[in-house]
Amino acid sequence: MSREKVYIYPGEEINVSWNQALCIHIGECGRSQGDLFIGGRQPWCQPDLTGVENVIDVVERCPSGALTYEAVDGAIVETAADENTIVVSYNGPLFVRGDLEIQGASDAKPGVRFRAALCRCGQSKNKPFCDNSHIEAGFEDSGAVGEKGKEASNEITQLKINPSQNGPYLVSGNLTIKASSGRAAWHGQRVALCRCGGSSNKPFCDGSHKVNGFQSG
Ligand code: FES
Repeated sequence: MSREKVYIYPGEEINVSWNQALCIHIGECGRSQGDLFIGGRQPWCQPDLTGVENVIDVVERCPSGALTYEAVDGAIVETAADENTIVVSYNGPLFVRGDLEIQGASDAKPGVRFRAALCRCGQSKNKPFCDNSHIEAGFEDSGAVGEKGKEASNEITQLKINPSQNGPYLVSGNLTIKASSGRAAWHGQRVALCRCGGSSNKPFCDGSHKVNGFQSG
């Protein structure tokens, strides 16, 4: 079981929250220009040192859903990106964005309604979310995508992600899968994506989880 520590950084107009267990330190916040996030400062995040629009912009860059915001007057809420996408990262997780419903995700993780980093090496202790275990495990996959799927659809639908017991992510809803290069490689509505790390046809499941005895916990 992962720790579910959530830190709140209050502001006059907007609060920022950080779910520690989801954070894999990609650094989109820390490298953002301006005074919102300054490493080593106490507190690290100070929403009142920048404008509300900038808070929203920077927080929504967070690819793991660890960062979220909440307007004090409730007038602003995050909305989904125009398109559901999964980026197959180089030697790392699946970065998912869009209108997401990740089965089993707790209410303490509101950010993963829109942004999530999903484990695909099979080693995370915080499954289905990435916890950077791929680094220690030496997981290697360049993020190339061989299949094309079907035609892209412009219709926006919710992307349902079911991390199946001891098996793949069963994904349904309009989706574009991007290779690590950024190429929009696959389009479709239904796909099974490997989360055991063993498929020979990554990012797709090829049934290897049955052979390698993957345990999703
Ligand atoms: S989950 Fe990895 S091959 Fe099926």
